[in-house]
Amino acid sequence: MVSKKREHFGGRVAVILAMAGSAIGLGNIWRFPYMVGEHGGAVFIIIYVLSTLLISLPVFLAEVMIGRRSHTNARDAFARLSRQHPFWKTAGYLTILIPMLISSYYSVIGGWSLEYLFKSCGFAFSGMAPEAASTLFGSFVSSTWTPVLMHLLFFAATVGIVAGGVRSGIEKFSKIILPVLFVLIVLILIYSVSLPGAGAGVRYLMHPDWSQLTPRTFAYAMGQSFFSLSLGMGAIITYGSYVNKKENILVTSTGTAVFDLLFAILAGFAIMPAVFAAGIEPGACPGLIFQSIPYVFAKMGATLPVLSGIVSIVFFLAVIVAAMTSSISLVEVGVSFLMERARLSRVKACLLIFALCGGVGVLCSLSFGPLAGVKIAGMAIFDLLDWVCSNILLLVMALLAVAFVGWILPRRVVHDEFTSHQLYPFNDRIFPLVYFLLKWVAPIAVVIIFFTNFIL
Ligand code: PHE
Repeated sequence: MVSKKREHFGGRVAVILAMAGSAIGLGNIWRFPYMVGEHGGAVFIIIYVLSTLLISLPVFLAEVMIGRRSHTNARDAFARLSRQHPFWKTAGYLTILIPMLISSYYSVIGGWSLEYLFKSCGFAFSGMAPEAASTLFGSFVSSTWTPVLMHLLFFAATVGIVAGGVRSGIEKFSKIILPVLFVLIVLILIYSVSLPGAGAGVRYLMHPDWSQLTPRTFAYAMGQSFFSLSLGMGAIITYGSYVNKKENILVTSTGTAVFDLLFAILAGFAIMPAVFAAGIEPGACPGLIFQSIPYVFAKMGATLPVLSGIVSIVFFLAVIVAAMTSSISLVEVGVSFLMERARLSRVKACLLIFALCGGVGVLCSLSFGPLAGVKIAGMAIFDLLDWVCSNILLLVMALLAVAFVGWILPRRVVHDEFTSHQLYPFNDRIFPLVYFLLKWVAPIAVVIIFFTNFIL
């Protein structure tokens, strides 16, 4: 078999932008604010930041090292570096299963964003009473057909792009739209903080109420951090395989993590003050952003209808593009696996993924409406799938990645990778600390936190 030479990224900024492009998505804009609301505000943010710096960053470095060293995709990377050890060969399959599962419910939220884009196009929010704009979500999500249709539309677009091989087009577009989204979030933040009643939201994010801290907060914070940084699903391993041997991975990994963190925290500060101003319950549900942001647009629309209309269109469009690029990279994993292993054509593989993951997504979507009563282990289908992925599978996979680097790869190899063959003296100096985090702190923390999921 002819082995294709893997291309390299252009330079440091290009690496950070590509990784941040994968990392920034619904995880930051949709999931982070509602996790903060569900798990006690400022306390969650503190644990989230700590776990990003102490656990996710080592895991991130581990995944980049595995990718760069093995120079191959996530599934084969473990096998190649362990010289085809059966355990690691099997472990690699998790990197296919997890993205497939996540893509199925990720696109349900993509579908909600689509519905809100359509509503924005009719300037729906700018002419509405703010309270009506925020309660619209409840009736939309509990209806049967529209959310399912929107999910299928979003997923069909994602799979269609993968099938047509026109991925690079939308990825180029996302490089323009992500900075636009960033600016919009800052503008919304400024506006939202100025709303009457918003102060309570700011306080909620800044003043920790330690009585809100439970063992479970740790599991949710760490799961969120992995989800948001695209860790534990092979994505960063694959990106790592494109990183140049001379690149300083400490800088690129920290850069990506900081970017991602900033984006999430800004989204939290844009949304939570509006949540309090609108009198929405912060721990409401995954719909938090879809209740609070329309409230902001409706408020704005009372004085500046045209501006509010345009901002809402651009905002939801940007959210969709950010979600779509993430969704594409999730779907691509399953598609390329089916193409290689089952020898299916690209189109057939895409159709199969559409049927499988799209079908699971339909069940997730219905679990907000007609299937709301179906509970497994006390959770509705959507919540259960999200919990299994973010709180269980991502943790297992991240543990495998970090333990692989800490315990299976020889120390010399890890040192070589971390310092890019002695190119960076600073990395050389801090290597003992990083190795200690990789070998002991991160794996033990992940194991302990994993079990906090089950403390009642
Ligand atoms: N990190 C992305 C987000 O926050 C999700 C994602 C995971 C995207 C893995 C691609 C690959 O939304």
